[in-house]
Amino acid sequence: MQDQLNRILEEAKAQLAKAATHAETEEIRVKVLGKKGELTQILRGMGKLSPEEKKTTGQLANKVRNEIETILNEKFEAVKAAAKEAQFKAEKIDVTEPGKPATIGVKHPLTITIEEISRVFMNMGFSIAEGPEVETVFNNFDALNAGPNHPARDMTDTFYITDDVLLRTQTSPVQVRTLMKQKPPIKVISPGRCFRCDTPDATHSPMFHQIEGLVVDEGITMADLKGTLDSFAKQLFGSKTKTKFRPHHFPFTEPSAEMDVSCFKCGGKGCRVCKGSGWIEILGCGMVHPNVLKVGGIDTEKYTGFALGMGVERVAMLKYGVDDIRLFYENDMRFINQFK
Ligand code: DAH
Repeated sequence: MQDQLNRILEEAKAQLAKAATHAETEEIRVKVLGKKGELTQILRGMGKLSPEEKKTTGQLANKVRNEIETILNEKFEAVKAAAKEAQFKAEKIDVTEPGKPATIGVKHPLTITIEEISRVFMNMGFSIAEGPEVETVFNNFDALNAGPNHPARDMTDTFYITDDVLLRTQTSPVQVRTLMKQKPPIKVISPGRCFRCDTPDATHSPMFHQIEGLVVDEGITMADLKGTLDSFAKQLFGSKTKTKFRPHHFPFTEPSAEMDVSCFKCGGKGCRVCKGSGWIEILGCGMVHPNVLKVGGIDTEKYTGFALGMGVERVAMLKYGVDDIRLFYENDMRFINQFK
């Protein structure tokens, strides 16, 4: 039995010397000291020995057990330390490694266009007004003098949310909101999104952007409208730009006009951009209809005003030579990055 004890000790020592992980060490512990372990079984069998044998063998068995336990504990400590070391090595951060360069985005061409147009107007003393994209039918149509039979009110042109609420088809309702909360002098522009039931194609999109303008004060005339918009056109398209005003109809202005600018590509000779005419239509405008001023409780004997509205996509397409409106909404970075 003593030989057996010595053999167990030697074997345990040899195996523990080779063990490299906690699991391997634990396996050896169970094999020797576990409930059914080799040493445990020997200790159990000691009851059968004579008192003399019990004493000597018992002493040896205790010594062997103590020795194995000591080596086991040391081994457990060692594998634990080794595992920690390996983890530290694996998680090591090289603080000298150069950082990843941050890529800086670019402004969307529509944002660039809105900012450019807004800057021109702000330099002329306009401030920015805002209105919601979900509007009342009243602000979008009735208050703008577009009566119940106006064709734009049709379901096929307008996204209705309820009978009284819609997605605004134009930025013009911001005129109404401004007139209702501000007293003249008023001088605002309002860029924003608009929505119409259009099937997307190269020149149509159910969502697009407009910039509205409104000026109301004492003694505002058509001359102010023409002077302001001519100055705007020269600042946006170049100082040689000429403007021309053609009669038109809008329910909320009287008289109404459309403004054309001389083609900034060919200077008026006629080219692909201006379709040979030398002129490009750029915006709608007119003198604010008294019915619109009245909605804001403004004295129409004392005050007059002018308004304007233009499509941002149209201006951007002309300025940057973009031939399909859908390119603005596809978020294709190959397109967007060209505006760096
Ligand atoms: N709201 C008009 C449209 O969507 C554009 C417009 C024309 C706005 C003339 C105006 C204006 O303020 O005076 O077609």
